[in-house]
Amino acid sequence: YTGGYKAGTEVKSLQLNDLIEIEQMAAQVIPKGGFGYISGGAGDEWTLRANRTSFDTRQIIPRVLTGKSMPDMHTTILGVPLASPIMVPPIGSHGLAHITAEAGTAKGAAAAGTLMACSTVSTLTLEQVAAASTGPKWFQLYMLQDVGYSRELLHRAKAAGYKAIVLTVDTTATGNREADARNNFKFPLQFGNLDIRGSGGDIHQLNSAFAMKMDPKIIEFIIKETGLPVIVKGIESPIDAKIAIAAGASAIQVSNHGGRQLDGSPATFTVLPAVAKAVNGRVPVIFDSGIRRGQDVFKAIASGADVVGLGRPVIYGLALGGWMGVQSVFEQINRELSMVMQLAGAQTVEDIKHTQLA
Ligand code: FNR
Repeated sequence: YTGGYKAGTEVKSLQLNDLIEIEQMAAQVIPKGGFGYISGGAGDEWTLRANRTSFDTRQIIPRVLTGKSMPDMHTTILGVPLASPIMVPPIGSHGLAHITAEAGTAKGAAAAGTLMACSTVSTLTLEQVAAASTGPKWFQLYMLQDVGYSRELLHRAKAAGYKAIVLTVDTTATGNREADARNNFKFPLQFGNLDIRGSGGDIHQLNSAFAMKMDPKIIEFIIKETGLPVIVKGIESPIDAKIAIAAGASAIQVSNHGGRQLDGSPATFTVLPAVAKAVNGRVPVIFDSGIRRGQDVFKAIASGADVVGLGRPVIYGLALGGWMGVQSVFEQINRELSMVMQLAGAQTVEDIKHTQLA
């Protein structure tokens, strides 16, 4: 770490009431610049807020005379078994939160029986993250302007045992994250996979290494290079979902990057039904941005998602308790989802998909 930056060091289980208050708990541990980078959104943060408030537009009808009990949350995504339909989406620079960085998250995700995606801009190398746990992992690619190096990363990811590639397509420009500007935030640590000097650089310098346009040929390129399933992440438009599937995508990830890119874009929960309709069951739909409660998971799956990604709360758990903190975060949201399923009369994840929301 440069500039005296101090990330979390503790490894312990957390006493949590919910995954909302954990944000303020984490703010006590993560230095101001790092916390602003993690928690912040773009512009007015309208989309960041809408990702939460949009869940209020639909309700879950209690089903109380079903004779059902003890919901089963197990499911699979692209052949990977999950203890519940909640996974860790790709997030850069876990070292900002905790000294164990992605190794801690990988261990916590594996302990929770779930899947983790490793970001291109991880603190550790993709090989170190792969070796940190036996749990299943996907590698997320930010297509770089350097095509040769992108190819090298893809081949390394395949060799290291990653089971799929997540291509993130919503970052051809960097969102205006004003907290970072106000805090004059510079990354205090290197990026394991990139030979650009992360240390001392800001988000704009980092993102200038990324491709500035996206098209279906990039999806075809990744399939050709790796033979792995490709998840196209950062979709909010039914048209883009169709383009991605036509190019060979194995899954669509409905995401607005947690409100960090295009402020004024809709909450993902708002557009999910239309995107799911365009996908029409041809490939799985992964959903993220704003998931904080079991209710949110239930509503997303009832609206067309197969699996959801839980972003910032996982990083807060990591900051507060290392791998055990990550495990505690999953225990918390799984406990809520199980309760919601019971009260809504859904025995399985498949049952949630067939539930009509009010
Ligand atoms: C992200 N996200 C992200 N996405 C991606 O594809 N590659 C990346 O490197 C990152 N990095 C990143 C850093 C931080 C600090 C955050 C908060 C998010 C977006 C991430 O995958 C996911 O879409 C959001 O985090 C989901 O929103 P919530 O759950 O945080 O509201």
